[in-house]
Amino acid sequence: MAWKKYRFGTQFYDALSGEWAVYRSGRVAGIALMGLNAGDTVVDIGCGTGLSFELLVDAVGPTGQVIGVDASAQMLQVAAKRAVRNGWSNVRVVQADATQLSAADLAIDGSVPRVDALFSAYALSVMGNHSTVLARAQRLLAPGGRVGIVDMQRPVGAAKIFTPLARLACRMGGADIEAHPWEWLIQRAENVTQLSRRGGHIQAVAGTLK
Ligand SMILES: C[S@@+](CC[C@H](N)C(=O)[O-])C[C@H]1O[C@@H](n2cnc3c(N)ncnc32)[C@H](O)[C@@H]1O
Repeated sequence: MAWKKYRFGTQFYDALSGEWAVYRSGRVAGIALMGLNAGDTVVDIGCGTGLSFELLVDAVGPTGQVIGVDASAQMLQVAAKRAVRNGWSNVRVVQADATQLSAADLAIDGSVPRVDALFSAYALSVMGNHSTVLARAQRLLAPGGRVGIVDMQRPVGAAKIFTPLARLACRMGGADIEAHPWEWLIQRAENVTQLSRRGGHIQAVAGTLK
């Protein structure tokens, strides 16, 4: 259970995650590539402390919805506080294991929302079985829905000298640097777009699933 690593010290996650120096650039790229529309409902898989919420809220606007899913109650506590602090009344969090995610998990009062888009940043490489997670999430997605995946790999080209640092960052977060979860999307999606950041360490891929 990879998420069990994310039960302790969650109040320090944002400060220690290298967000502003390295990883924010990836979520900015991934969310831009998704081309979300005002009013969309987007599910953030493995949302953690909600570091992607602000960008997602901006993209879907006040009539859209952001649903953050994570297995760790402690990470979600930080995410929920972030939403309240910022007055994002269209953000809610759901505690669920993404490998078992079902429509019932997303329902409110028995009503399942239409899911227009799925997003995941730096979480699928932690989950170990990203193919299962993505196949399950695809079942919840409306036809023609957008999917955005942001995750890590070894740096390339001249940036290869930073490989030990990249490996250390992944090891500390429990991520498999060789997982390359975006490949699942590239193999199945239409209109695929891709951006690379931080010497290739960060890959952002978006596409449309039928
Ligand atoms: C490295 S953090 C990334 C969090 C956030 N997406 C971000 O960009 O900062 C990985 C997150 O995945 C969650 N996670 C790992 N396995 C999970 C699973 N099977 N189901 C749901 N969440 C899971 C962890 O609890 C953790 O919050």
